[in-house]
Order: sequence, then structure tokens, then C-alpha cells
Amino acid sequence: MKIQAASITHFSVDREASRHRGYRLATGFFICLLGLFSLEAYAFDADSARDMMGVCATCHGEFGQGGSRGEYPRLAGQSEKYMASQLESFRARKRINFPMFPYTEERDLSDEDIRNITGYLASIKLQTTPPVFKGDEDALTRLQMMDKVMIIPRAVGDIENGARIYKKECASCHAKDGGGRGSFPMLVGQYTNYLMKQVTSYINGERPHDEDDSRGILAKLKDTDIRDILAYLTSIQPQE
Ligand code: HEC
Ligand code: HEC
Repeated sequence: MKIQAASITHFSVDREASRHRGYRLATGFFICLLGLFSLEAYAFDADSARDMMGVCATCHGEFGQGGSRGEYPRLAGQSEKYMASQLESFRARKRINFPMFPYTEERDLSDEDIRNITGYLASIKLQTTPPVFKGDEDALTRLQMMDKVMIIPRAVGDIENGARIYKKECASCHAKDGGGRGSFPMLVGQYTNYLMKQVTSYINGERPHDEDDSRGILAKLKDTDIRDILAYLTSIQPQE
């Protein structure tokens, strides 16, 4: 809003010289600004998202980094569309998630809430390289710096075999770099034991993997292949 006020002042100074041109410019500028603001409001309402995040943070961490070594998945940087589909699925009780039952009641979690919180979470970027301490930080600051860093420990497995199967069977949907896209979730940067738990629940038919029965993809793999894919995913984390 400060910008708008500034443009009014600018317009009044300009008045003498080119009243009409200035007016047109200012009007155009206002329209552009309005456009920007409404676009932003459509993407997500940051204040409301941050309010909601207070609740989510108790399990998923202040920055959506997840917690308790993967009992609570990482949400930061995950695909917005995918997270929205999962929240809808929790709300409709199609994907069963007991810890989140109270937070996904119809009356508490509106479509607008889903848009806001998933837009916010998707926009959070976590560092993937260790923090550099200057030496004058106190323990709390160090802890907070560490919290923003997300490096999944290397999982044990045959990385070459994992790479081969991942590229052949998974990359078409989850992307070559494991970053996901659209409604396909990001797998790289997610906790290994969380991913393992999901694979198991797909194989057991407790969670549908994909519409075209791609449960078949996971069910036909050997246990060692799955272990190797998960090991491969921990070996291709970007260094940022
Ligand atoms: C009491 C703990 C708890 C709270 C609070 C909580 N969650 Fe969760 N959430 C979980 C657990 C546990 C899972 C994983 C369930 C599973 O293993 O299938 C999960 C999974 C998710 C997933 C799916 C992630 C994926 O990769 O599929 C999303 C999205 C999510 N939570 C969003 C939220 C949002 C948004 C909030 C706040 C409104 C929230 N959660 C609050 C415990 C919690
Ligand atoms: C045809 C597209 C497709 C292929 C191929 C595919 N997936 Fe998926 N995958 C999906 C979709 C869609 C979801 C989300 C499904 C849902 O809503 O539960 C998903 C979800 C997952 C999840 C859960 C992620 C989370 O955050 O909860 C894991 C783990 C997973 N896939 C692993 C794999 C592995 C490993 C392979 C290769 C062996 C693979 N997928 C191949 C489409 C695919």
C-alpha cells in the first residue's frame, strides 16, 4: 500500500507538465498493482497460513521439515497439488491418518485453508548443505540453524541397482531428480522410513498408489529392489 501512496504524490508533482499522460500512467499502475495483489491473494494468504502452521508445526516442525526421524513427513517444498490431494483424502477419510484426524474435520479444514497452507508449505525452501557457524552463536541459534537444514542420512543399499530401477519404473512420474511434479510427490529429501512405510501400505492395498493400478509397480519389486531405490534417492539430494 505504501507504493500506491508514493505514486499519488508522484502524480501530483507531475500534474503541471503532463496531466493526462500522468493520469493514464497512474491508472495503469494502479490496475497493475491490483492485479498483483489479487494474484498473490489467490496463491495463498500468508497470514492465515502462518496461523494454521502453528498447529501443524507441533508434528511437522516449524519449517515443515518433519520430525521424529520420519514419523512425521517433511512437507516443506512438497508439491502443492499433491499435498492438497492428500489433505482432501484425509478429510474424506480415504487415506487413514489417525494423528491428523482432529485437524482434518470437515468444519475445521476448508478448501480455502487447504489452498493457503499447501501454497505456504510448498514455498518453503530448506537448505541441503550444513550450516556454517561463525562461532558466536548461542546454542538456541545453532539449533534453529540446524532445523532449517534438511539432509536425509544415506540409506544402505545397492545404489546402482536402485538407480536402474528408479529410472525405469519411477522417474516417469516422480521425475528424474526425484523432485516430483504436479500431483506426483517429491521423494528425494523425504525421510527414508516414511517412504518405506508408504511403500508397504501401497503394497498391502491400504493406500492406492495410482489410478492405473500402479500398485502393481511396487508389488512386483523385490524387497531388495525397494531398499536399493530408497538408498539411491538418498544419494541424489541436491547440494544447495
Ligand atoms: C498430531 C500430529 C500431526 C499434526 C498436528 C499434523 N500432522 Fe500431518 N501428518 C501426521 C502424520 C503422522 C502423517 C503421516 C501419516 C502416514 O504415515 O501415512 C502426516 C501426513 C501429512 C501429509 C501427507 C504427506 C505426504 O507426503 O503424503 C500432509 C500433506 C500433512 N500431514 C499436512 C498437515 C497439515 C497441513 C497440518 C496442519 C493443519 C498437519 N499435517 C498437522 C501428523 C500430524
Ligand atoms: C504412474 C505414475 C507413478 C509411477 C510410475 C510411480 N509412482 Fe509413486 N506415486 C504416484 C502417485 C500419483 C502418488 C500419490 C498417490 C496418492 O495419492 O497416494 C505416488 C506416491 C508415492 C509414494 C508416497 C509419497 C508420500 O509422500 O507419501 C512413494 C513412496 C512412491 N510413490 C514411490 C514410488 C516408487 C518407488 C516408484 C517406482 C518403483 C513409483 N512410486 C512409481 C505415481 C507414480
